[in-house]
Amino acid sequence: TTPLRLGIAGLGTVGTGVVKIVRQKANLLAARTGRPIQITAVSARTRDKDRGVSLTGYAWEDDPVKLATREDVDVFVELIGGADGSAKAAAEAALTAGKDVVTANKAMLALHGQELAELAEERGHVIRFEAAVAGGIPVVKALTEGLAGNEVTRVMGVMNGTCNYILTRMEDSGLPYEQVFEEANQLGYLEADPTLDVGGIDAGHKLALLSAIAYGTQVDFHAVELEGIQRISIEDIHTAARMGFKIKLLGVAQMTGRGLEQRMSPCLVPADSPLGQLQGGTNMVVLEGDAAGQIVLRGAGAGEGPTASAVMSDIVEIARGTRLTTFGQPAKHLEKAIPARTSAP
Ligand code: NDP
Ligand code: HSE
Repeated sequence: TTPLRLGIAGLGTVGTGVVKIVRQKANLLAARTGRPIQITAVSARTRDKDRGVSLTGYAWEDDPVKLATREDVDVFVELIGGADGSAKAAAEAALTAGKDVVTANKAMLALHGQELAELAEERGHVIRFEAAVAGGIPVVKALTEGLAGNEVTRVMGVMNGTCNYILTRMEDSGLPYEQVFEEANQLGYLEADPTLDVGGIDAGHKLALLSAIAYGTQVDFHAVELEGIQRISIEDIHTAARMGFKIKLLGVAQMTGRGLEQRMSPCLVPADSPLGQLQGGTNMVVLEGDAAGQIVLRGAGAGEGPTASAVMSDIVEIARGTRLTTFGQPAKHLEKAIPARTSAP
């Protein structure tokens, strides 16, 4: 049987997690896909770094574009991050060279997902992104496959673990936002640019991706109405608690008579509801389909194991030879949605 050969660019939290699974679960993966899954080449910025996992037997490329276009790579696994730069250059190079791409990069896909999906599909390939939304929760597959027979009526959820950590820590400790933000920073929870987390941008990227699948529209991050958690004070948290509510950074996407509404903003949710009880870095996504009704998915939205698990699910799908699209239908058929604005832009 023909092995599926991976080229992995980015050997940080997620990349090393993927290498570990491929190394440690070779037999299981081969049994589930009917073929060996092998890493042929890897890339990161620094070659001589102890990453806690052996890279013996893999070719090394300094340049992710070179890695992406190697003849002995079937699937380019992009785990560098960043909307543009090396990640996008390498993903484009891989797709142009006729490879499939698997990525965890929500920023790149929220901004360039349509063009990348079209580029892939023109060549009979695909770019898949289960890990980009809600870490280990298989929400992309729940929408593309699980709810394929539904009109999706609503997508809702808490999709940024760092914001949920900050808000629940403020509730539990009574400490002000600034102090809890600093704690989160010390714990290494924040993105290199913390505004991506606390400004709601990262969660907005994820909501835009789910909306595209749910409503069969082109991904449009700029149509997401965004408000972050930076202005939530400890007094706001106390006032909400006295009324029986918690404050959550909540995303909602629904098709209305006025167009597609996509909002990511701090919301009051009943303290005793599943969303209200969501603690720490956990994510929760609620999907509503006209046939299936409401489905609630809850789990780890980040971290090595959960995110690598989601990356592997895409690799396994490709290894099985499933006929796939990026957003649940051919990208060239997706139309731009009319954005419904609930407030002045
Ligand atoms: P890290 O910062 O831990 O790792 C990034 C890796 O990319 C590093 O190995 C770095 O090399 C490498 N890198 C950076 N620039 C280049 C370059 N120009 N060429 C080659 N390699 C490069 O990031 P994460 O693993 O946390 O995240 C990876 C992706 O996964 C991002 O898109 C992120 O948004 C997404 N993601 C992450 C989650 C998480 O929990 N961490 C959850 C969900 C998604 P070096 O090690 O040598 O510095
Ligand atoms: N910064 C993100 C979060 C990482 O806190 O949810 C996972 O996408």
